[in-house]
Amino acid sequence: MYSDVFCQVYNTFGWNYYPEIFGELLLQWLRRQDFHPKTAMDLGCGTGILCEILHKNGIRASGMDFSSGMIDIARSSNPEIDYQVADMITFCPDMQFDLITCTGDALNHIHDLSDVARIFQNVLRYTAPGGYFIFDILNENEVSTSEPFEMDFSETVRVWFQMTREDANQVNLKVRVFENGALQFEENIQETVHNPAAICDLLRQSGFTVERCADRLLDDTNHGTTWFVVARKPYPIQA
Ligand SMILES: C[S@@+](CC[C@H](N)C(=O)[O-])C[C@H]1O[C@@H](n2cnc3c(N)ncnc32)[C@H](O)[C@@H]1O
Repeated sequence: MYSDVFCQVYNTFGWNYYPEIFGELLLQWLRRQDFHPKTAMDLGCGTGILCEILHKNGIRASGMDFSSGMIDIARSSNPEIDYQVADMITFCPDMQFDLITCTGDALNHIHDLSDVARIFQNVLRYTAPGGYFIFDILNENEVSTSEPFEMDFSETVRVWFQMTREDANQVNLKVRVFENGALQFEENIQETVHNPAAICDLLRQSGFTVERCADRLLDDTNHGTTWFVVARKPYPIQA
């Protein structure tokens, strides 16, 4: 779970650019599929940027996240959108949604494949028949490590970041916040790099069909640094 201070750092440093890019891609994808969801649920919604994009485009969007600091920011940006603090591993709302999303490598925060399987089984339950589950996961070939870098947060606060790859499957992001030169807090975020073929197998075992697993959501766009996965809940077979 992200600490409240880290949620503010996340919000202020513009890591919201990713859901903005993803949101535009997703809207294009929906238009091309001629798929017009009325309702959507964003898992690991962070500060709610994707929900807001969907909401502005006439979709009744809801969001959930484990970190209450993220949900506080999301709620204050748009009180009309329904947000919940919950763990996506056990999350299983009563209603069904036409579209479920999970972006910004939120699924890489789930380390154990048995928990990923549980999420997929639950998502199937709350996806409407014919509805889509669209998410990204880190691409093992594109995960970069960086030299530490620093940025000003305010006149007195500086933030230091470093991304390291401990082994093939483990990425660590370390963030330190300094006020007037003194360390105020440090956050360590671990992400697990999942194998896309294993993820697609889990989706199929859960009952989804996998329509796409590629380094871009649309064929004619530049490839991204993640895998994009499009899964669909089949319609029930008519007797
Ligand atoms: C890198 S952020 C991405 C946020 C947002 N989707 C975006 O694209 O900006 C990952 C998010 O996943 C959330 N998260 C991690 N594990 C979670 C869990 N088990 N249940 C719900 N949310 C979780 C984190 O709190 C965080 O907000």
